[in-house]
Amino acid sequence: MRKIYIFDTTLRDGEQSPGVNLNTREKVEIAYQLEKLGIDRMEAGFPAASPGDLAAVNAVARAVKNVSVIGLSRSRETDIDAVREALKGAQDPCIHIFLATSPIHRKHKLRMEKAQVLETAQSALRYASKYFSKIEFSLEDAGRTEYDFMAEMVGMAIKEGASVVNIPDTVGYLNPSEYGAIFKFLKENVPDIEKVQLSAHCHNDLGMATANTLAAIQNGADQIEGTINGIGERAGNTAIEEIAMALATREPFFNATTSLRLTEIARTSRLVSKLTGMVVPGNKAIVGANAFAHESGIHQDGMLKEKTTYEIMTPESIGLKESKLVLGKHSGRHAFREKLIDLGFEMDDEPLNEAFAKFKDLADKKKEVSDDDLLALLEEKLVDT
Ligand code: KIV
Ligand code: ZN
Repeated sequence: MRKIYIFDTTLRDGEQSPGVNLNTREKVEIAYQLEKLGIDRMEAGFPAASPGDLAAVNAVARAVKNVSVIGLSRSRETDIDAVREALKGAQDPCIHIFLATSPIHRKHKLRMEKAQVLETAQSALRYASKYFSKIEFSLEDAGRTEYDFMAEMVGMAIKEGASVVNIPDTVGYLNPSEYGAIFKFLKENVPDIEKVQLSAHCHNDLGMATANTLAAIQNGADQIEGTINGIGERAGNTAIEEIAMALATREPFFNATTSLRLTEIARTSRLVSKLTGMVVPGNKAIVGANAFAHESGIHQDGMLKEKTTYEIMTPESIGLKESKLVLGKHSGRHAFREKLIDLGFEMDDEPLNEAFAKFKDLADKKKEVSDDDLLALLEEKLVDT
């Protein structure tokens, strides 16, 4: 089975979520947890962005031991020097250099012709290769770049010694078949493409980051980039936990795996949410509070008979204790009886039916009926009888 390398950018693209600002201590705490999760590569920040970020990247670089630590750099020497400074003391340092390649970015942002873009990236890679043995090069907005120019840029990066070439869908514009086709095209058309790892980096503007990343894997991507809980610029980045669980749950389909310790997913998600202040929506895939919760009577009955009826993966597999059967107005007698047994009440059919009727009245008035509500309801019933 093919191993897919996991490049985590929670501490860089994730930190670019509006309103998020992690201090050095918080970055180091998340970095230790990411190391436990078993990611392969960690982008710790953008050292040229501020002295504080440079110091934070340096603290992360010195703290973690089993992960390659990466610093982001524009295609300019001063940024590269900042990454050199920040990665002092790293066990396995890597620089990530980027330059935009799409016509829109060339015309409006860079104000450069194709040849200038190529030369600028080339000289940055030449300068960086004096100091780094591991270099990743990203074609920013590759998703909206002409195929022939993309191939030329990737070919140049290979010649200049990049070890990873990243193909970002920077603005989350593509759909899975288009994004997958880029990887197939590059694999088939760029000379010496086997000398580099190709990386997928997707944003979620149209809600397709996970699907696009999986399409890249199916078309030969060696590495995927993403963040925990999918945090990041605008609508965020690919959620790493979604890719890991998609590959694990559908292993024969993808025939690809990661080195992640999946049981660390829930803990990592909680820590990132706590320290970034970004609340995980209840219905978020894998790590949302409702991802393993069941409310309807039909589903609860199925779950009580055989969990695989309504769960395609177990809560234990991501480090949670158990599924939740939430009692609400759609719940049925089977789940209600089991809940009462949990609370220490075994009842015959008749009193159970009466209690169930009272529960349904209450459930019509409340979104969720808690254990305390049930205890109050049962006490009321005991007083009545
Ligand atoms: O989305 C993007 O293009 C980026 C690059 C810096 C890799 O985050
Ligand atoms: Zn990005």
